[in-house]
Amino acid sequence: MALVTTKEMFEKSMKEHFAIGAFNVNNMEIIQGIVDAASEQNSPVILQASSGAIKYARPTYLKKMVEAAVEETNIPIALHLDHGPDFETCKACVDAGFTSVMIDGSKYDFEENVRITKQVVDYAHAHGVVVEAELGKLAGIEDDVNVAEADAKYTDPDQAAEFVERTGCDSLAIAIGTSHGAYKFKGEAKLRFDILAKVKEKIPNTPIVLHGASTVIPELVEMCNKYGADIPGAKGVPDEILHEASLSGVSKINVDTDLRLAMTAQIRKVFAEEPSAFDPRKYLTPARDEIKRTVAHKIKDVFGSSNKA
Ligand code: G3H
Ligand code: 13P
Ligand code: ZN
Repeated sequence: MALVTTKEMFEKSMKEHFAIGAFNVNNMEIIQGIVDAASEQNSPVILQASSGAIKYARPTYLKKMVEAAVEETNIPIALHLDHGPDFETCKACVDAGFTSVMIDGSKYDFEENVRITKQVVDYAHAHGVVVEAELGKLAGIEDDVNVAEADAKYTDPDQAAEFVERTGCDSLAIAIGTSHGAYKFKGEAKLRFDILAKVKEKIPNTPIVLHGASTVIPELVEMCNKYGADIPGAKGVPDEILHEASLSGVSKINVDTDLRLAMTAQIRKVFAEEPSAFDPRKYLTPARDEIKRTVAHKIKDVFGSSNKA
C-alpha cells in the first residue's frame, strides 16, 4: 500500500467512533516499533515528524525509512508534519512527499492564524495534501490561574466554526486541557469534554485532533526513575479519559512523550543491569520492543483502532 492522506481514515473514525494514533518519529527503531504494532493490530496509523525530528534524522533518511515501513506492511500509513512553524516548512514537506502537514498558527492572533493557515491550505490542496490547523492555546493550566484566564486558553467553539469555514483546513487541533510533555496536571487530570461537545456541534464534519495526549505511563516513569532518571511528579492523561475522547469525536491522538519514556526506560535498564554492554543492539532492541508494546496497548485498549485498517 502507498502512503495515504488522513482523509479516509478520519472519515471512518468519525463514522465508527474511534481515534487514530499519531506517533512522533525520530529514528528507525521508533518507526519500526510503531509500525510493527499497528500492523499486528491491523490499524491505520499516522507517523508524524516535527521540524526538530526532520532536522535530526535528515529529510531523505526519514522519508526513505517511512517508505520502507510502507513497503513492508499492508496498513494505511500517513506521513505528517507535526507543528509546522511557518509556510516554508509546510511547503518543503508537501514538496518532499508528506501526505499531511500541520500549520501551527496558535501562537498568532486569530486573523494571522487564519491568514497563514489559508496560505498553507491553498498550497497543500493544490498538491493533494491535507492540512491540520490549531486553534486555542495548549499551555498547561496552572492551579492559581483564575477561571477567565483559563477559559481564554481553551478553544472557542464559535471561533472554531469561523476558522474552519475561512481556512478550509481538513482537521483542527483544539485546546481542552491537554499540554505537551510529562507534566500535564498538578492535581486531578481533567479535560473539558463540554467544550469538545460544543466544537463537535458547530463543526460535526471536521476531524478533531488532541495534542499533548500522552498518558505519561506511570510504570515507565517508575522504571526510568528506578534506573537513575530524575522525573518526579510526572502526570499525563489517563487511558480512561483518552478512551472517552476517542468515543466523543476526537479522530487523532498525538503521542510523543510516552514513546520517549518507553525507549529511555529500557535503555536505562540495560545500562544499569549490564554495565559491560556496549553493543547498541543490546539496548535498542528492548527499547524498540517497549515502543511496540506501548503503541499496541494504545491502539487496542484505548483508541479503538484495531482492525480498522
Ligand atoms: O509536540 C511536540 C512533539 O513532542 C515533538 O517534539 O519538537 O522536540 O521533536 P520535538
Ligand atoms: P505528548 O507530549 O503528550 O506526547 O504530546 C505529543 C504531541 O502533541 C505532538 O504533537
Ligand atoms: Zn503537539
